[in-house]
Amino acid sequence: MGSFLRSFFRTLSFFGRVFLHVHSQKTPPNLVHQQLGGDVEVKRNAVEFRNVTKSYGDNVVIDNLNLSIPQGNIVVLVGPSGCGKTTTMKMINRLIESTSGEVRVFNQDIQAQNSAELRRRIGYVIQQIGLFPHMTIAENISLVPRLTDGKKGHDLTKIDQLLELVGLDAASYRDRYPAELSGGQQQRVGVARALMANPPIILMDEPFSALDPITREQLQDELIRLNQELHKTIVFVTHDMDEALKIADELIIMQGGQVIQQGTPDHILRHPVNDFVRGFIGEKRLAAKPALTVADVMLLQPVKMSRYKGLAEAVQTMQRKRVTAILVADQDGRYHGIADTADIYKRYSEESKTLADVMRTDAPTLRPETPLWDAITLVQDAPYGHVPVVSGEGKLVGIVTRACLVDVLSKPYLEEAAASGE
Ligand SMILES: Nc1ncnc2c1ncn2[C@@H]1O[C@H](COP(=O)(O)OP(=O)(O)OP(=O)(O)O)[C@@H](O)[C@H]1O
Ligand SMILES: [Mg+2]
Repeated sequence: MGSFLRSFFRTLSFFGRVFLHVHSQKTPPNLVHQQLGGDVEVKRNAVEFRNVTKSYGDNVVIDNLNLSIPQGNIVVLVGPSGCGKTTTMKMINRLIESTSGEVRVFNQDIQAQNSAELRRRIGYVIQQIGLFPHMTIAENISLVPRLTDGKKGHDLTKIDQLLELVGLDAASYRDRYPAELSGGQQQRVGVARALMANPPIILMDEPFSALDPITREQLQDELIRLNQELHKTIVFVTHDMDEALKIADELIIMQGGQVIQQGTPDHILRHPVNDFVRGFIGEKRLAAKPALTVADVMLLQPVKMSRYKGLAEAVQTMQRKRVTAILVADQDGRYHGIADTADIYKRYSEESKTLADVMRTDAPTLRPETPLWDAITLVQDAPYGHVPVVSGEGKLVGIVTRACLVDVLSKPYLEEAAASGE
């Protein structure tokens, strides 16, 4: 690692701590080991491919694939379009049959199994989740159990639990129709439906790629949280490296129907096996590194309100948007100050007070063009962990939080370390 970066990270201990915290939240993959008969240690795999080939005529699309998917992890298949990700995934639930070789699920050859039974143990979520428009959300979720168990499959308690689990208020959503939900909410229902039969394995093929970036981030966070609770084996396909690095316990990089590299995101960032992997994970971020400014990392739509708004309204907005601090700006964007819940509650009983009376006007701000390196300490010490970004004309243009620094900075750091082989 370059000496500049080394000293940079030594001085910024907060960053290291936060970074470690973020990464230690994930269960390290390959740690699911089982002692069998004393000396023999066998890794438990949910899915294994042994010399699997898939051809369409002369066209070999999966070429002698060997792959192990450890149990209880989020395993992400990533690679360019057409490299065989979907084909690989569909061979796990036999939506596609392999041409030769063996696919094993929980150590049993799936070829020898009834495919309908196999699929009941494997949830499936795709990009166009295919909710039925004339069925309510509850009916969509219970579709498969109703097909097999009749009315008994429509277990309302379970449906409500699943809706809550995926972050939807059961009472307000269960009786709606799909058209009455946003794309992100529909995708959550798709996840709930896949969980309904409580399968140990869930396949997800680009499930979030049609969503806007903010909803997508939220669903990625939800998925990580959900799996810390449920410990399912999730096989997730994407061609977005940012998404892959964020959610994967284990990454599998594919190219031309073959696995090029498999390992933890950390390992792959440190030790990419070849230029293809290096290019696939690195180019964009390496190119962005030399001139990072505050504008490159700030969040563009901070939660803001006019200074004439009353305190009850401010609290309500903060609850709805799930923020602990609110920025105060005019309709024309002019920045005035920042207030957090403590500032507001101190004066809350005084009904005539507005944000103008409680906001801090002396909290530090940043300019968008400020180099990121110069902004770090300020963000570290900022009273709310948030620093408003204000233009030369005094307009509020964004906000920088500790979390978004961690997000952006951790990647070039890892790449630098990887490139120097540390
Ligand atoms: N039914 C089929 N007949 C012939 N070739 C097919 C068929 N299905 C897929 N292929 C080919 O197999 C290769 C792998 O396809 P696959 O759908 O697995 O790619 P992918 O990695 O999921 O791509 P994407 O990121 O675009 O979804 C592609 O070259 C595709 O053209
Ligand atoms: Mg695909």
